[in-house]
Amino acid sequence: MRSLIDIKDLSVQEIGELIAVAEDIIADPEKYAHKCAGKKLATLFFEPSTRTRLSFEAAMYELGGHVIGFSSAQNSSTAKGESVSDTVRTVSCYADIIAMRHPKEGAPLVASRRASVPIINAGDGGHNHPTQTLADLLTIHREKGGFENLTIGLCGDLKFGRTVHSLITAMSRYGGVRFVMISPEELCVPEYIKTEILDPAGSPYTECRELEPVMEQLDILYMTRVQRERFFNEADYIRLKDTYVLTEDKLRNAKQDLCIMHPLPRVNEISVSVDDDPRACYFKQVLYGKYIRMALILKLLQEAKA
Ligand code: CP
Repeated sequence: MRSLIDIKDLSVQEIGELIAVAEDIIADPEKYAHKCAGKKLATLFFEPSTRTRLSFEAAMYELGGHVIGFSSAQNSSTAKGESVSDTVRTVSCYADIIAMRHPKEGAPLVASRRASVPIINAGDGGHNHPTQTLADLLTIHREKGGFENLTIGLCGDLKFGRTVHSLITAMSRYGGVRFVMISPEELCVPEYIKTEILDPAGSPYTECRELEPVMEQLDILYMTRVQRERFFNEADYIRLKDTYVLTEDKLRNAKQDLCIMHPLPRVNEISVSVDDDPRACYFKQVLYGKYIRMALILKLLQEAKA
């Protein structure tokens, strides 16, 4: 049973095919309006979400399917002590495909070994968020016309920011991509991302502490929130949370075709005044997330049937 746990589960060719399907859905949504008639998606969210859960649900409705699920562990039998394995075995009896978010790294992988329907990792702790990456890739493809020869600035919480880990994994597979990783020392990208992803791919990268001096190099600026929920210590969070706040003033040396991205939710990392800048792409990411999830649901259900 094919699941999506890590963005590496998809080949470069498959990512290209998903993007092509998403583009076709955008061009002709009516053609897809009944593709999932009679199918059910279960959204099992053990951790809060606005975009991911609702875009999955909107995606399934726009494919003509149905949605069941829960939006917090407290609203499920997890609160009575049920294991993830038993929960997904149970939900496999009711749904054709499951999108699952969990605070524990690896929980969707464990779930995929017990479920009899495809599992989609909708975010596991500080580890991975492959469908956010698919939304990011569709955004980059639409804004830049492809993935090669881009300099990508990743700014903020690169330690706990699971969207960053998945995006580096995906983009390191394309030629000529260079990463500029901007973070406080305490929130650097984990060592395994360097040794297991960047180094084997031969992707050039630099690490720095300040955003403005590198701004002019960037084709993409990917801002991230400091992940309060992953900190052990509130004092550290408060000290680090406003390290980077993107304002119009800080963009004065940026390229005219810079693509400013953020997986959202935003707390204080991007001033609302930047929202009117034509380079701001973060609400496009939100919309594209629905279309690429439609493409993914179609693909996994087709493969499950085959
Ligand atoms: N980007 C993202 O995962 O947002 P939510 O936490 O609102 O789902």
